[in-house]
Amino acid sequence: MGNSKQILAVDHGRANPALAVAAEMRRGEDKLAELLNSREALLAEICRYLVNAGGKRLRPTFVLLVYRACGGGEARLDDAIDAAIAMELIHSATLLHDDIIDAGTVRRGKPSAFALYGLGPSLVAGDFLFARAFELCGRFEDELVRTAAQACIQLTEGEVMEGRLRRNAQVTLEDYLRVISRKTASLFHAGAKVAAQLAGASAAAPAMGRLGDAFGLAFQMIDDLLDVLGPEEKIGKPVGSDVRAGIPSLPVVLGVARDSRLSGLLGADGPGFERALELLRAPDVIERARAMAVEQVAIARETLTELKPSLYRDSLAVLIEEQVYREL
Ligand code: IPE
Ligand code: IPE
Ligand code: MG
Ligand code: MG
Repeated sequence: MGNSKQILAVDHGRANPALAVAAEMRRGEDKLAELLNSREALLAEICRYLVNAGGKRLRPTFVLLVYRACGGGEARLDDAIDAAIAMELIHSATLLHDDIIDAGTVRRGKPSAFALYGLGPSLVAGDFLFARAFELCGRFEDELVRTAAQACIQLTEGEVMEGRLRRNAQVTLEDYLRVISRKTASLFHAGAKVAAQLAGASAAAPAMGRLGDAFGLAFQMIDDLLDVLGPEEKIGKPVGSDVRAGIPSLPVVLGVARDSRLSGLLGADGPGFERALELLRAPDVIERARAMAVEQVAIARETLTELKPSLYRDSLAVLIEEQVYREL
């Protein structure tokens, strides 16, 4: 059994992250579907609409791989699956709220819940998903619950900080890093730390927290880059959404520092928007943004040396590496 799984999880000699935890994810998916039920049909409908729209399930895959790579066995596997699903629930909640904040009308290649159901219902559905996550994992040790709650607090702070910096041509790289470490990396940080602790590998928890931070930063940097590179069919949302909304994404922050013409174009529409997009696609902006993500990938890879060699550790290495070349 262990052997056949080993073979399945290695694809042309390369570890395959999704396959490595496929059995765990299947159980997680069943649980996730159950948790979307509600006495109010509209709530269940909105949540199912988003959750079944084809997300990558990156966070639960990451959490389960960290759990296994830290030596987690059957004893707390149910808890690890719940933690993984809680991360996806929290992520889904933030997407519902984020599309309200960003006026995002397309998500995962389909009309966003905000566009389809409106502000109020999407807002409440997001709250519902946050509460489901804590219902699922509230039984964990205090420290683990606090770690997850801290991530949610940071997520909200990251979104508000980003809002404060919209259309601000003075935004610095330091501001940018603070925003994305709060709005994106915090959840990966918490997920990885909780997974290490559930696996009984408390000594590895700080390193796994650093892994989550670096992985989350790299992931958001590439997401920002894809926003300007597109194309829409690949990224599942209109190209340049960040630029149009005046969001201080990585290319925007790097671009305004290098080309003062961009300052007046943040949040522009029409020809101003097209011009901004063109300036943001300057090869040195793209290369610098990618180099920053590569730097975080190297930090993430380095933390894996704290773990014993295993198929799961190799899968994490592949998952980290894939971020730089992903197309969605
Ligand atoms: C999108 O996250 C939001 C960001 C933090 C950039 P994902 O790209 O993981 O979203 P899905 O779940 O795969 O749609
Ligand atoms: C997604 O952020 C939500 C959070 C990370 C909290 P973005 O606004 O950067 O993501 P997309 O581009 O809409 O997916
Ligand atoms: Mg958005
Ligand atoms: Mg946003």
